[in-house]
Amino acid sequence: MAAPPGRPALSDWRFRFSLSVVGATPPLLPANHTRRKDVYSRIGRSTALALHAAGARVVAVSRTQADLDSLVHECPGIEPVCVDLGDWEATARALGSVGPVDLLVNNAAVAVLQPFLEVTKEACDRSFDVNLRAVIQVSQIVARGLIARGATGSIVNVSSQASQRALTNHTVYCSTKGAMDMLTKVMALELGPHKIRVNAVNPTVVMTPMGQVNWSDPQKAKAMLDRIPLGQFAEVEHVVDSILFLLSERSSMTTGSTLPVDGGFLAA
Ligand SMILES: NC(=O)c1ccc[n+]([C@@H]2O[C@H](COP(=O)([O-])OP(=O)(O)OC[C@H]3O[C@@H](n4cnc5c(N)ncnc54)[C@H](OP(=O)(O)O)[C@@H]3O)[C@@H](O)[C@H]2O)c1
Repeated sequence: MAAPPGRPALSDWRFRFSLSVVGATPPLLPANHTRRKDVYSRIGRSTALALHAAGARVVAVSRTQADLDSLVHECPGIEPVCVDLGDWEATARALGSVGPVDLLVNNAAVAVLQPFLEVTKEACDRSFDVNLRAVIQVSQIVARGLIARGATGSIVNVSSQASQRALTNHTVYCSTKGAMDMLTKVMALELGPHKIRVNAVNPTVVMTPMGQVNWSDPQKAKAMLDRIPLGQFAEVEHVVDSILFLLSERSSMTTGSTLPVDGGFLAA
């Protein structure tokens, strides 16, 4: 596909990405891009595959080697990194030499649902370590590399509608995502002068493994669907499309934003 005037051709972009984290580049979905409906469909995995299909070099990061093996089996060009992002020292070792990275998607998260009065220290520590602290750490690694190279970049944080609305039993998850939205804005403020953009996507429920654990109960699902003007949950590819847009030069004047992918939930 020919690049628009003044923009690099697709072949000139370099991509790196990760399943839970992602880095690398371009923005345009290939014409043969198809929506995945299988049970293995996850936001990070699908983003990695879409970026690779668009010509990016992709680094996929997750903590489960079997998932990475399956991803590389499906797409041999993707470079896997297996690490627990909740472990600061291990993450520094695993990702310290990865690069150069132009684009990053911070996607890994855990969702531990507990009533407020029963929230545990373990749930707090684990959730904030993975959902927020790792985002800071990995973004620092990538942003420092971009600044050292004098390169521009784009970072997308995968947040949630839960960052901006209270949901029963979601004390810790909502809090991590609320913090992620503000982190996105502060990163945009401080990294903007280096021409590094930082945005978030804020999906409604998506029936990934995480979504299935939390929203399979029909009564609970109906109560949520009733609050979504478009009357449906998001598909994985709705989220992937928005991530690719924010990674791409098509959003070159957008930074510090939180983009709902929620069928209107946050507007209602
Ligand atoms: N699904 C939804 O309804 C929904 C709605 C709004 C926002 N989101 C957000 O979308 C993102 C992707 O979620 P998803 O629905 O695709 O969930 P998912 O299927 O559970 O995927 C999350 C991924 O993160 C990985 N991960 C978790 N902890 C990790 C750690 N410590 N180190 C490395 N990797 C780790 C998981 O690996 P393991 O499987 O090995 O744990 C998994 O590959 C998350 O940020 C989530 O908060 C999801």
